[in-house]
Amino acid sequence: MAEERIVAGQRHGREAEGSLRPQRLQDYIGQVRVKERLAVFLEAALNRRDALDHVLLYGPPGLGKTTLAQIIANEMGVNLRFTSGPAVERPGDLASILTNLEEREILFVDEIHRLSRPVEEVLYPAMEDFALDLVLGKGPGAKALRLDLPRFTLIGATTRAGMIAAPLRDRFGVVMHLDFYAGEELAQIVERTARVFGIDIETEAAAEVARRSRGTPRIANRLLRRLRDYAEVRGDGVLTLDIVQEGLYLLDVDRLGLDAVDRRLLHHMAADYGGGPVGLETLAAAMGEEPGTLEDVYEPYLLQQGFLQRTPRGRVLTPRGYLHLDLAAPKES
Ligand code: ADE
Repeated sequence: MAEERIVAGQRHGREAEGSLRPQRLQDYIGQVRVKERLAVFLEAALNRRDALDHVLLYGPPGLGKTTLAQIIANEMGVNLRFTSGPAVERPGDLASILTNLEEREILFVDEIHRLSRPVEEVLYPAMEDFALDLVLGKGPGAKALRLDLPRFTLIGATTRAGMIAAPLRDRFGVVMHLDFYAGEELAQIVERTARVFGIDIETEAAAEVARRSRGTPRIANRLLRRLRDYAEVRGDGVLTLDIVQEGLYLLDVDRLGLDAVDRRLLHHMAADYGGGPVGLETLAAAMGEEPGTLEDVYEPYLLQQGFLQRTPRGRVLTPRGYLHLDLAAPKES
């Protein structure tokens, strides 16, 4: 099995996150614009005693899409039913989920871009008309039958809105993008998690964890757990700035939150492709990774930090990227 990267935004297999999640909108830190808008839509739906319109959440992994879905359910006072694109294999699977929903309940579909086309076809009338279209029998005697569904809310989550078929995207009344968190927001999240865990952490130490967490709460919380281990074994349990810096050195997380895989990617670009432009597929093959993984998992933070640029001819290593590797950028020719 491949080693799980401590700085990856995706969920690790059995990682327990539930107890860390804020339960109400007011306890959710960051994503200020998303929160403001949601607060209005929630209040309006509650006042009308109607289901919230369908919501599409997109953005890199680990930024809180599932947490927001749970908060929406809590605020609406209804259950959240959880499933994912790959888990819904056949149209019948979705039909059974939909017919078991209650009025105003939330159906959360993670990785919604991975629903198959036949399953999507069932979803369209369900989203638009709260109806399930069934065909009974085969051939000339077949009969179409329309079943009413309760008014429910679909919350779809995906890492990239561009991967969703347009007809599906168009059926979401609310489409919101989650972005990387700012340093201070992430530091607040680190301090909140430390309180939940009963960890003693200094203010500067929390800021340091935040700086190295790639703008991603899931990474910050994961680093915090490993740093607590380090503090208990090598210190007196308190997360001081020194302990955090030593612990992050041990974890191979550098001062901007890049790990060995990120640095390998930047090194390949500098050493093997003269800084680019190099095509995504070529780079992925050199790294032994899927192009989609490079694009969704590694690249977003490297792009956001200005180490890489996307150009029509491929990826380019920027002067800042060279600097981070302690290499001189080639002279413009
Ligand atoms: N834990 C993880 N993400 C969070 C967030 N956005 N606000 C508060 N706590 C969190």
